[in-house]
Amino acid sequence: MRVLVAEHPLITHKLTMLRDKNTPSSLFRTLADELMTLLAYEATRDVKVVPHRIETPVAWTDGVILAEPRPLIVPILRAGLGMLDGLLRLMPSAEAGFLGMVRDEKTLQPSVYAERLPANLTGRQCFVLDPMLATGGSLIAAIDYLFDRGATDITAVCLLGAPEGVDAVTAAVDGRDVTLVLGALDERLNEHGFIVPGLGDAGDRLFGVVG
Ligand code: PRP
Repeated sequence: MRVLVAEHPLITHKLTMLRDKNTPSSLFRTLADELMTLLAYEATRDVKVVPHRIETPVAWTDGVILAEPRPLIVPILRAGLGMLDGLLRLMPSAEAGFLGMVRDEKTLQPSVYAERLPANLTGRQCFVLDPMLATGGSLIAAIDYLFDRGATDITAVCLLGAPEGVDAVTAAVDGRDVTLVLGALDERLNEHGFIVPGLGDAGDRLFGVVG
């Protein structure tokens, strides 16, 4: 698995604001959206294109356009929704599928509670979005889900990752075509499975606490 950690002062600046516990939800949503847009540059580096010839006002030239089938963007609910628009804006012809997962607070095991994906993903490039890579359980389950349906290759974009989660996903991927793009690689997980220093619960910070 390829792992790319963004090294860019503007990304680090926005992540610093995102991490700040005093940042309100409205600003948190804006920052998550902007960070996704910045990370998209790396995340789409291998997006499939085909030759496309056009005429400029001056001359004919050979360019490219996105290939068919169109890429599929899969935000992991809830928190991944905060990153969807940031990527969809750059690839408006992409399609979006949805995977709802929640992590049990005690066992840290993920479970799928909602799914709205094309039944057949043969040949599709998939972009999985989730702000947090903690133990890696949710991302591993999402990757398995998409490959089981025929996805060709998967790029996962996470704003923050813990080393434990990166190791777990690397082991689980086992030679399949997966790229992981991280805004930052944090220090560790704490005893509650939260990323340290992290940013808390991304879903709660984006959308408020579910009772
Ligand atoms: C969080 C986060 C990831 C997952 C990461 O979701 O958004 O999906 O946990 O943890 P893992 O790497 O240990 O699996 P959560 O279960 O809090 O749901 P939410 O997005 O609805 O808040």
